[in-house]
Amino acid sequence: MKSSQALMPTLGALLSFIASPALALDLLPIEAPQAGLDARAADYSALNLQSVETFLWGGSDTINTAIANLTVYMNGKEENILNLERFKDLVTSVKCAEKSTTLTLESDDAFAHLMEAWDWTNQHENNTFVLIAGSGQCSSSSKRQPYIIESVEYDNTTNTATLNGAQSDWKTVAHTYDLHVGGTPSSKLAQRDYSGSYALNFTHTINFGKWAFDAVEGVQITAVCNDCYTTGEFDFNFDIKTVLGIPDGASLTLNPKGVTAVVNPTIGLVGKLSGSKSFEKKFLTIPIDGISVADIIELGPEIAFKGSLDIGPLKGTASVTTGVTLTINDDADFTLDLLSPSDASANGWAPEVTGDDTTITAMISGGVSLGVVADVEFDISVLGKGLSAGIGLNPLAGVLLSAIDSSAGACADDPEHHQYGVQLAPYAGVYLQASVSDVATVTITSETISLPSTCTGFGAALTSGVSTTVVPTTTAVPTPSGSVIPSSSAAINRRAPRPTSF
Ligand SMILES: *[C@@H]1O[C@H](CO)[C@@H](O)[C@H](O)[C@H]1NC(C)=O
Ligand SMILES: *[C@@H]1O[C@H](CO)[C@@H](O)[C@H](O)[C@H]1NC(C)=O
Ligand SMILES: *[C@@H]1O[C@H](CO)[C@@H](O)[C@H](O)[C@H]1NC(C)=O
Ligand SMILES: *[C@@H]1O[C@H](CO)[C@@H](O)[C@H](O)[C@H]1NC(C)=O
Repeated sequence: MKSSQALMPTLGALLSFIASPALALDLLPIEAPQAGLDARAADYSALNLQSVETFLWGGSDTINTAIANLTVYMNGKEENILNLERFKDLVTSVKCAEKSTTLTLESDDAFAHLMEAWDWTNQHENNTFVLIAGSGQCSSSSKRQPYIIESVEYDNTTNTATLNGAQSDWKTVAHTYDLHVGGTPSSKLAQRDYSGSYALNFTHTINFGKWAFDAVEGVQITAVCNDCYTTGEFDFNFDIKTVLGIPDGASLTLNPKGVTAVVNPTIGLVGKLSGSKSFEKKFLTIPIDGISVADIIELGPEIAFKGSLDIGPLKGTASVTTGVTLTINDDADFTLDLLSPSDASANGWAPEVTGDDTTITAMISGGVSLGVVADVEFDISVLGKGLSAGIGLNPLAGVLLSAIDSSAGACADDPEHHQYGVQLAPYAGVYLQASVSDVATVTITSETISLPSTCTGFGAALTSGVSTTVVPTTTAVPTPSGSVIPSSSAAINRRAPRPTSF
């Protein structure tokens, strides 16, 4: 059996399957409220340098809404932060340049407050503050633009402050921060501005045509999905906490909403295979609209559908139709610790598994199982650092086939007492696994249930209960002597489903 490591495609390989990149939902700045402007007495506290500041972004298209919250901490003695959005209405003019920015205030009182509040910067050559100009404040760009300000000159005749320092970027200025991105607004403010949620669309048809190959010389296998599909969506939240440039916590949370998967293949088998074999093929990759906050985070999810087939030992020629329907409870939740993947926490993922009727066209013995793996992958880039994480949902439908040759009638409940028959022992299961950056995988749930077995008779009917020598018709595949071909099925039954690749 191949190791799961060997099956893992690299992220690069994964990305190369993307035919056309999906659009990203661009989150735009949600302007910070201005402090004190409604107060009766003049309150210019919005001009004060801060050691913590929160920035929100939000966005929605016709279906999705998402929010990002970046809280930046400037805990060092020689650093502070100032969000220009907070006192926008006190400012009559802003001019931004690479090396200096000038601000003019309307009110003398406000300017007096500003001089006092910002004087700290001039008190020591190493004192600097990060100035964040809001959307449209410095240029027509909707980006929030950071500057590092080293000193300030004042002209109290025109109420103009000249801020000396250079334009910078978020990657440089934000060394200690909390960042939350998700579909579920995390606060009242966010909920007021954006209702609804960003969810990952999981409603897809899995049509892989006819998957045909030679398992070994002389053994042909085909698999066709009759009506395979997934439904529902996943809500997700991403959080990262970084202290002095080093991630101190990063997590991805997923919640299913109406998630089901239906896999109902017809598998055609021709030939004789003494051992068992596993095959896997990626059928399609669906890029999902991602989320992007200019210069802060890019979050690109995609769903890849793969088939995984386990067959053998096998003897005969027949096609087998089987199926499984999985339903995942909406209460399920899953949190993956991206820094310590073994600390994943998952609740309520045990799915409801229903098996379809299994049918067979001719006499055959052996075992076959087809799984369709839906890999939900996130490719995350935060302030220049890359991460990837994902969850793989693998519903599988299988059947163990035992050919029977009995002069008393192969199937007990067969009124025609066919001498030849196939005992079908179908099973269905699910395998759910999480992965982080192609290096770690965690099994969330793995479950296989046996479904009621049935027996299908083939060949000529025998007279009731009498041992007779009967020549099988040409449609039946004669079996070697011995009434029941021991199927290696038990092994398949006990075996945990093969880990899926990420
Ligand atoms: C200012 O920063 C520089 C470079 O980090 C350092 O060498 C210098 O000692 C600092 N000055 C004071 C007075 O802290
Ligand atoms: C401007 O500042 C100077 C020196 O701090 C002070 O003498 C002067 O009165 C100020 N002028 C106004 C208009 O506030
Ligand atoms: C943003 O995140 C900070 C820190 O995690 C939190 O205190 C604050 O309430 C959040 N604000 C919003 C509007 O979500
Ligand atoms: C989800 O994707 C499917 C297939 O692309 C599409 O038909 C469907 O409208 C989408 N649903 C939502 C809610 O976006």
